[in-house]
Amino acid sequence: MPRKTNSDKNSEKIIVTAALPYANGSIHIGHLLEYIQADIFSRFLKLTGKDALYICASDMHGTPVEVNAQKAGKEPEKFALEYWKEHQEDFMRFFILFDNYYKTHSPENRELAEYFFAELKKKKYIYRKKIRVIYCPYCARSLPDRFVRGTCPLCSAVEQYGDVCENCGNALKGVDLINPKCSLCGRTPNQKESEHYFFRLSAFADKLKKWMKSPDSGLQPEVLHWLNGWMEKGLEDWCISRDGPYFGFVIPDSEKECGEKKYFYVWLDAPIGYISSTKNYCESGKSGKCNWKDYWHKGQVYHLIGKDISYFHFLFWPALLMAVNIPVPKLTVHGFITVNGEKMSKSRGTFFTAKDFLKLYPAEALRFYYASHLDRSVVDVDLNFEDFKAVTNNVLMGNLGNFCYRVLSFAAKNYGKVGMIAVEKEHEKEILKLIDLVKRHYEQQDFKSAVKTVLQISDQGNSYFQQAEVWKNKDSKEAKAAVGWCVNLVRNLAMVVSPILPEFSMKLQTAFGEKKWSWGSVDFSWKGKIVQPEMVVQKIEKVPSQAVFPLQLTVGKILDVKDHPNADSLYVLSVDLGEKGKRQVVAGLKKYLPAKSLLNKTVVFCANMKPAKIRGELSEAMILVADDGQNVGLLEVQKTPIGKEACFTGMENCKKEVTFEEFKKLQMLVRGCRVMFDGKKLASVNEDVVVRDVVDGAPVR
Ligand code: MSP
Ligand code: ZN
Repeated sequence: MPRKTNSDKNSEKIIVTAALPYANGSIHIGHLLEYIQADIFSRFLKLTGKDALYICASDMHGTPVEVNAQKAGKEPEKFALEYWKEHQEDFMRFFILFDNYYKTHSPENRELAEYFFAELKKKKYIYRKKIRVIYCPYCARSLPDRFVRGTCPLCSAVEQYGDVCENCGNALKGVDLINPKCSLCGRTPNQKESEHYFFRLSAFADKLKKWMKSPDSGLQPEVLHWLNGWMEKGLEDWCISRDGPYFGFVIPDSEKECGEKKYFYVWLDAPIGYISSTKNYCESGKSGKCNWKDYWHKGQVYHLIGKDISYFHFLFWPALLMAVNIPVPKLTVHGFITVNGEKMSKSRGTFFTAKDFLKLYPAEALRFYYASHLDRSVVDVDLNFEDFKAVTNNVLMGNLGNFCYRVLSFAAKNYGKVGMIAVEKEHEKEILKLIDLVKRHYEQQDFKSAVKTVLQISDQGNSYFQQAEVWKNKDSKEAKAAVGWCVNLVRNLAMVVSPILPEFSMKLQTAFGEKKWSWGSVDFSWKGKIVQPEMVVQKIEKVPSQAVFPLQLTVGKILDVKDHPNADSLYVLSVDLGEKGKRQVVAGLKKYLPAKSLLNKTVVFCANMKPAKIRGELSEAMILVADDGQNVGLLEVQKTPIGKEACFTGMENCKKEVTFEEFKKLQMLVRGCRVMFDGKKLASVNEDVVVRDVVDGAPVR
């Protein structure tokens, strides 16, 4: 290959991608780490004049979308399109600026998936094989991937999907699960034989090894380590088809070849979505026509992904690309977001959707915080809210924001312009060196060091401004010149920090009355009008407190059971809640349980329900039951004293009154005779709360 000369460097075509999020739920602060990381990188490349595109799309196919669409009672396509729209709004609010945000359920993606498949077939990288798959006789369908759950055969984690174990990270097959259950009906499925298409991944072992070892691949050391491990274990060929019903593309000729339609496995057409989104961009003429091949064959592609999807991106995807002679992209893996040191969790109150987060904090505070933690190592990033507050208030605002705002306000208020600039050759040289360092850090995707260096610059600016004491003698030449120099420094800072803080930077750019900054705008000789800038960052006052469960779950004894005078299906119970007193409780259980099976039982009640008259009888608490549609089970305890509370692991109960509407939103359910909420178990200090007579998955109501 001919060496690139310096002059065509800027005309090099670059694609930056983030993983295509499943269109099956809201974007959360975990996802945002990656979309922000890739956004910073692509903004930086553009700022330095590169022909770079930030490309993404919604991943719409397969069981992740199907399972959730079914829960929502919607068609997968319609369901996915709704999230496609929602995700774009969320990204926009975080200033994540894609050149194209497309979708995998698209004509371009179908065409390219078929093209890849045809090429693979032609080159004999595809073969058919009969395998055993999970089949549910009750639902009369195959159960690919997430339609089956069971115990991981490798690490024994329960409740794992049929495609991957979230606990140990290993790829699984549905038929390997121990004690599998259909996620649609909860019953035990069986197996059937089915013919499927396999991609000869094993044939690429040597090529992959060569790629791994070449210094050009730029693999992170952690990744190289994983890859070595996978290679040692040996590469298994990859099943790239699924039985119907499946939301995806039908494999051409599959009906003829297998006697029934087969569909491309979502992980086949998802990465191809990177290319089809580029193709869609180029052909839509959004910014003049271009050709996707110029980017993918002749340019440089950068993928940014999370560690959980490494296997797909470091083995399957490179092999697919090698098979069709497209160069393998450069990949960067990031770790996961934890909140306050733990996995994000709804019950701990640490699971924030993009929208929820924005109700509390400004988007750029998160961008800044994430940037300050991202270098190119595969470590998890902890969003500690106390630290987040400190970084936002003391560093972003206290250091950088304060310097920029203070200098520009001073200049705008007192002079309205910059007409003189102090001569500070030594200082300038040093700062230009630091700015160059920032550039190198961005290039290496080491945003953490970029932030550090930016702060070093603004520290210097702050002390320069402080020492000049310009407010003492505002109208002196010296003061004007010193301020002029600081204004130039602010201008440079605002420009180099713009990939991380685009809104901040834009507000400052407006104060300068300038249109478009680029890295080349760095300089110390800017003169012109300055207007008062908008406030650049907001201070953070409060941080969320820890986990509370909204119900006051209390053990009580049923002292008496009477028929409700005005309703056939209701009982009126008299209940002893210990310290919380005696209460009357109306319960709709007559259809399910005879009075004598309730009498004298110690079971769990919700004690902070808003009292209500039900058909004329006061109900002052609520009895909790699990209900699978056929049977009803009480939440029983044996050894717990009356009046004691039951809690979900690690959570506190709340005393504040709740309404029935609020209660209904809580998804408690039964797993293995225990009551679970967001993976946590309900127990008193003495014992687990136990539910019998209902099937797994029964909700608590
Ligand atoms: N659809 C696939 C990707 C297909 S790419 C051809 C997928 N989607 S996802 O919505 O589950 O995840 C999208 C990206 O967000 C992944 O890179 C994933 O690693 C990342 N993250 C999801 N949760 C995350 C955290 N809690 N923390 C950091 N990144 C996380 O996988
Ligand atoms: Zn496992």
